[in-house]
Amino acid sequence: MLRNRLKKNMKTVGQWARKQGIGCYRLYDADMPEFALAIDVYEGRVHVQEYAAPKSVDERSARERLAEALAVIPDAIGVEREDMVCKQRQRQTGTSQYEKQAASGEFFNVHEHGCVLKVNLKDYLDTGLFLDHRPVRNWIQQNAAGKRFLNLFCYTGAATVHAAVGGATRSLSLDMSKTYVNWAQENLALNGADASHHRVEQADCLAWLAGKPTSDQRFDLIFMDPPTFSNSARMAGVLDIQKDHGRLIRQAMQRLTSEGLLIFSTNFRRFKLDESLEEEFAIEEVTRDTLDRDFQRNARIHRCWQVRTRI
Ligand SMILES: C[S@@+](CC[C@H](N)C(=O)[O-])C[C@H]1O[C@@H](n2cnc3c(N)ncnc32)[C@H](O)[C@@H]1O
Repeated sequence: MLRNRLKKNMKTVGQWARKQGIGCYRLYDADMPEFALAIDVYEGRVHVQEYAAPKSVDERSARERLAEALAVIPDAIGVEREDMVCKQRQRQTGTSQYEKQAASGEFFNVHEHGCVLKVNLKDYLDTGLFLDHRPVRNWIQQNAAGKRFLNLFCYTGAATVHAAVGGATRSLSLDMSKTYVNWAQENLALNGADASHHRVEQADCLAWLAGKPTSDQRFDLIFMDPPTFSNSARMAGVLDIQKDHGRLIRQAMQRLTSEGLLIFSTNFRRFKLDESLEEEFAIEEVTRDTLDRDFQRNARIHRCWQVRTRI
């Protein structure tokens, strides 16, 4: 049953992705409840994440199911067994999501809407590319020409790559982690972006946003996709997106030109937008437009808003 479903999805989603110039896509997302997996294709390789089973599911039968699934996935998708990576996706706390899982050093390049991005399926819980945000990146690419772009909590800088390829004149990307700052710089270089115009800096975004903006810190387009929760020793205090988003959005809006646009996104499933923001700013939820075909069956994966100054 799983084999047939994967083959069917390869024909539909796989073909759709190829036509769109998308190399990496979600092929399967727990379509069948007995196989609670997310299966992502990364250009000839496959990244399988096992969702943590509910307590009611017997551990042994869950193990057997997983073994059964892993035996059929490579053949159904047409990849080699050694090109499949399987991880268990558990609810993460603190910074554990960003810690190293392995040390294979196996990076390879993938393609998305004319951009080249470096990924690694083995060494971290995430791959370097959040597939659910693809339409947001594409939107940024389509709307970045001539703009100054700010990417907060930039991770591997994929959204900045799209902005640069789309013609952003300058950009600043900030992340607390040196690993991701380096990765973002490499991603930009891979796409021929000039490092003097597209800067990536290691910074605690909470502290940076709380500081006074300098005259060269005004942006036409800002993307802010903070983690749900973060408490690294390198940052000032703790980040809890539900509690802190109002402050972060207000502070980010201070870095925006009067005509500018802030895109705010969160993966926190129980997120509720602070209603007072709607009185202060022109806010529009655009979540529906930010989910590609491969994520429509998991429409709660993220929520996304466009925030503008009220005129
Ligand atoms: C883009 S966010 C997470 C987005 C993703 N949608 C999710 O929920 O997993 C992840 C990035 O935030 C960075 N990060 C976490 N706290 C930070 C902080 N205070 N300042 C700057 N970067 C931070 C991490 O290093 C990581 O690269």
